[in-house]
Amino acid sequence: MYKSLQIKKGLFYVGVNDRSKQLFESLWPLPKGVSYNSYLIDDEKVVLFDTVDICYSDIYLKKIKSVIGEKPIDYLVISHMEPDHSGSIKWLLSMYPNLQIIGNSYTCDMLKGFYSITDKVQVIKDKDELSVGANTLKFFLTPMIHWPETMMTYIVQSKSLITGDAFGTFGTLDGGVMDSQLNPEWYYDEMIRYYANIVGKYGSAVQTAYKKLADIDIECICSTHGPVWSEKENIDSVISLTDKLSKYETDNGLVIAYGSMYGNTEQLAEIIASSASDNGIKNIVLHNVSKSHESYILRDIFKYKGLIIGSPTYNNGLFPPIENLLCGLENRGVKNHLFGYFGSFTWADATIKKFTEFTSKMKFDIVADPFKMKQSPDDSVVEQAINLGKLMAERLNSTIY
Ligand code: FEO
Repeated sequence: MYKSLQIKKGLFYVGVNDRSKQLFESLWPLPKGVSYNSYLIDDEKVVLFDTVDICYSDIYLKKIKSVIGEKPIDYLVISHMEPDHSGSIKWLLSMYPNLQIIGNSYTCDMLKGFYSITDKVQVIKDKDELSVGANTLKFFLTPMIHWPETMMTYIVQSKSLITGDAFGTFGTLDGGVMDSQLNPEWYYDEMIRYYANIVGKYGSAVQTAYKKLADIDIECICSTHGPVWSEKENIDSVISLTDKLSKYETDNGLVIAYGSMYGNTEQLAEIIASSASDNGIKNIVLHNVSKSHESYILRDIFKYKGLIIGSPTYNNGLFPPIENLLCGLENRGVKNHLFGYFGSFTWADATIKKFTEFTSKMKFDIVADPFKMKQSPDDSVVEQAINLGKLMAERLNSTIY
């Protein structure tokens, strides 16, 4: 028997957990799974917010019926059309043929394109309101978090904000659903990884949404992934964390990401880390790009101000996973970092030229001249690695956080 949690008077959680999918968007590892959250208002009108991945439609329907029994659903509000949330819309319409879909003009285009749905769609504009009985819904268009149709709904009486992917985290909801029922600390790192990888390119859109929502009083954040945030200190934490991430603001710390086929470049990464540590840096994360998934490296780069990347030359270019990482950083417009880089080669270096092309496109502050190593570290290269760690530490220590 499925039971659905009432999170505010008349507002229920009817989402599901996915413990099977390996890669979110076929890209991002899900070691702790993910939840697809959906919410239901049981008022004079019944309103559903978003659906779930089609694989879970059966459990989803049981959860919906555990709240409303055989009553019909009057409205489906679509915060976001990515199929992890829209996947059950067509199936839901077959169960509830009279339901009215609420979305914006971009939603309509995607409903037609993904599901051939063109009827029974009510198009709302920014700040439109809809009374559904005791509750009033106010819609806020928040485009590009992280698709153009993304929008949020404020439930005026309960001061609850249905946010779509904003404030989302990877990780299933084990047992509880609300922050008061869970250990919120388990979710913050996965919230950063989710943000860095899924939303990270769209910091300015997040800031625009923050300005639009600045005057509303929020007592409950209902995202489409992860816990429902309802305790004041947690709400403050997730709002401030997302604000910081979307401004590309970082903490004192250093990420060293390197590729190394036979261990020589890795030795330099270790020397640089040791030098930064000797000079007072405590938050140091080394990522061997052949082992750490890019999503974790990006997460840590979004966390920490310092970044050093080292790459061997491979086929007259960068080591492929390093090239991929640089592409991920450029794609997300990552900025406000202190940066250093170094390369290695066996007979002809190609790395410094490639890194220089990269840095010319990025708003990074380069802390030291780059250096390169031929085959294995000699005294001169070791000295340059120590110097890079030291200069990076000095710059990090002189930055106000
Ligand atoms: Fe959770 Fe952008 O879909």
